[in-house]
Amino acid sequence: MALKIFVLNGVNMGALGSRRPEVYGTLTLNDIEKFLKDEFPRVDFEFRQTDHEGEMIEFVREAVGSVGLVVNPGAWTHYSYALHDALEALDVPKVEVHLSNVYAREEWRRRSVVSPAVHAVVSGMSAYGYAAAVRYVLERRNS
Ligand code: DQA
Repeated sequence: MALKIFVLNGVNMGALGSRRPEVYGTLTLNDIEKFLKDEFPRVDFEFRQTDHEGEMIEFVREAVGSVGLVVNPGAWTHYSYALHDALEALDVPKVEVHLSNVYAREEWRRRSVVSPAVHAVVSGMSAYGYAAAVRYVLERRNS
């Protein structure tokens, strides 16, 4: 299928469902993947999670030539210059997603070092944020 979109989830995102449900909700990452596949049946998703920064960077590199990339880097958002640089080098539509509203939480979460390397940021829309990001990627492709 031609419509390949990478959806990458970083450190601690594998614990969704049981991890601070009052902040992140009760959906697991599998639930979010199913939700996206139902919403966008024509998209060929590469839906992945890793707790290893180097592996995440390899995933980003793999997205070369894809239709776009959606990334929730977890806490790497706030300090991974390596992830910033990998994203900056990737020439496809890129969206940073956060389930929670990072601006309504601790001060340190308000700074993202990866945002300058992506086209758009979605924060606080839970799983709908992923769908919005995929929609944006598809719209950019059509424009
Ligand atoms: C998060 C927000 C980050 O600050 C946090 O470290 C996460 C999840 C979110 O989806 O809201 O792990 O990216």
